[in-house]
Amino acid sequence: MGSDNKYYITTPIYYPSDRLHIGHAYTSTAADAIARWHRFNGKDVLFLTGSDEHGQKIERIAKDRGVEPKAYVDEIVGTFKQLWDKYDITYDDFIRTTDTRHHKVAQEVFQRIYDKGDIYKDTYEGWYCTPCEAFWVETRLEDGKCPDCGRPVELIEEESYFFKLSKYAERLLEHIKENPDFIRPASRRNEMVNFIKSGLEDLCVSRTTFDWGIPVPFDEKHVIYVWVDALTNYLTGAGFLDDEAKFAKYWPAELHLVGKEITRFHTIIWPILLMALDLPLPKTVFGHGWLLFGDEKMSKSRGNVVDPMELADEFGVDAIRYFLLREISFGQDGSFTREALIERINADLANDLGNLLHRSVAMIDRYRDGVIPSGGSFTELEKALQDKARQTVGSVGGHIDRLEINAALASIWRLVGRTNKYIDEAAPWALNKAGDHDRLDTVLYHLAETLRILALLVKSFMPTSAAKMWTQLGTGKNIETCTIEDTTWGGTEPQTKVQKGNPIFPRLDPDEVHEDEDRKEKPEVEKIQKEAEAKPQADTKPMVSINDFAKLDLRVAEVVEAEPVSGADRLLCLQIKVGAETRQIVAGIAQHYAPEDLIGKRIVVIVNLKPAKVRGVVSEGMLLAASAASELGLVSVENDIPSGAPVK
Ligand code: ME8
Ligand code: MG
Repeated sequence: MGSDNKYYITTPIYYPSDRLHIGHAYTSTAADAIARWHRFNGKDVLFLTGSDEHGQKIERIAKDRGVEPKAYVDEIVGTFKQLWDKYDITYDDFIRTTDTRHHKVAQEVFQRIYDKGDIYKDTYEGWYCTPCEAFWVETRLEDGKCPDCGRPVELIEEESYFFKLSKYAERLLEHIKENPDFIRPASRRNEMVNFIKSGLEDLCVSRTTFDWGIPVPFDEKHVIYVWVDALTNYLTGAGFLDDEAKFAKYWPAELHLVGKEITRFHTIIWPILLMALDLPLPKTVFGHGWLLFGDEKMSKSRGNVVDPMELADEFGVDAIRYFLLREISFGQDGSFTREALIERINADLANDLGNLLHRSVAMIDRYRDGVIPSGGSFTELEKALQDKARQTVGSVGGHIDRLEINAALASIWRLVGRTNKYIDEAAPWALNKAGDHDRLDTVLYHLAETLRILALLVKSFMPTSAAKMWTQLGTGKNIETCTIEDTTWGGTEPQTKVQKGNPIFPRLDPDEVHEDEDRKEKPEVEKIQKEAEAKPQADTKPMVSINDFAKLDLRVAEVVEAEPVSGADRLLCLQIKVGAETRQIVAGIAQHYAPEDLIGKRIVVIVNLKPAKVRGVVSEGMLLAASAASELGLVSVENDIPSGAPVK
């Protein structure tokens, strides 16, 4: 099933329990960038988003407001679509679980699993978290509260249908083991494996104590459990039971992108439903981290949400898209602060990219009347820039394939940095002064051409800004229809007329945009530092400054070989890869790790430690490990951070 050249990607279908916040915009923006990148690479993309409209939570909210649930959700879902339009989210289909097409699918799924004998009737007696719409057995509660969200749970007792989750537990574990990409990042995979191994209870899949849901087809007193209803949206969106050819083409999905709190539903309940239906499983479920506000999750119920509409009005959509995708290591939690946002806008967008465009176009304007000259002959300096551009195109693709979105952007920005440096090295103003016209032509052409490639690389992440770059560069082709092929060096036609314009990312004055937040933060930091210094340092070492710490070059490294050191029963000699480089280090870990268990591990190593000989063996660095009493554990990194990456 599924054609090779297609890419089916989904976001969660969000609850219309309120307006969406910047956390939801984060998922949709990431999905959009991935979808755009695959279209740019010539893939036939199906990008699905939507709304999860049934369930007890929505029914209660509508009741509280004195309106019918459907009237209530209609209004909120309208605001979802406005938000996605504002954020340039290019979804191909928007599914509502109240759509007739979905009603049919959810009922048929339920019926098929029942007919197969995997759904049976019993009585549910246990706990329910309405905000999460999740059932919990007593033993999984934490302090009597929902272990996922920490809110109170309700005791319910009602006749229900149950789905035989437990029957498929072994098969699921097997699938996870054989498909390391099924649950990502790896930290989430381990968590899920532990959850499954601790025992799966059969799942309650129907409710009788409220009405707002899709009726169980063979017993209309029951409505289908909202998560079963919701998960099957991914089938409806692919044309299940409606358009056979479409479904054969797009199913299974390449990627379900979700927040980490709902990874469990997507990697346990969902694959087991599909197994019961004899349908192939999605390739990857990626549970990204949370956007935090301070150190709390941003959520509607905590009332600490940032309004994405206001934010986009204030800073521009592309700046927000860039910030979300660049600032947060994809997979991990990250904080949203206005300070960090403004810093990114000024440093990366205004100074680095914006200024590169502005000064390049201005020089073509000044020195060549706005006409891009032909490249002519070039030197090693140009050769290096061309190579860097070529290499960046490949590296962005690799990062997106591995869902390292922030790393993809970092890679593009290294090319931006390299190009700015090229201007300084090539010094076009000096060439102009010296009347070295040929060389000046070469330099101006190389700037225009690198910027053209940069616009193409940036367009999946910041579509409007890429189009603005394109316009200033005067490129005739329509950027919308350009593909990866257009990134080949040499696409700029000599004699193209540039269009000098305003800087595409104006610098922000932090004092003007910074409301009270900053003012109260600074004295606070000073106070904390003073207090820390005044405190007796019980069993920690003396304070160091950030500069002291920055002297240590800590890197992620991958172990490629490990063997005992003869005559030293505590030592292992490891060959490690730090980026492209291979090094040898000696570590006193032989009593805690077998050599073969270390191969492939990604550890943290200090690489600028002066080399030393340990028992006659050269060690070029030292790995980090934590130890307590007789226990020892290697320090490693969550996430699929590549070796060579700095740790700071
Ligand atoms: O869970 N940080 O819907 P939901 C990052 N209807 N991402 C966040 C976030 C934050 N602070 N807050 C929300 C549901 N999200 C179900 C889904 S799918 C078959 C059913 C994002 O409205 C993130 O993607 O509670 C998270 O998983 C999703 O919004 C939850 O949206
Ligand atoms: Mg939620």
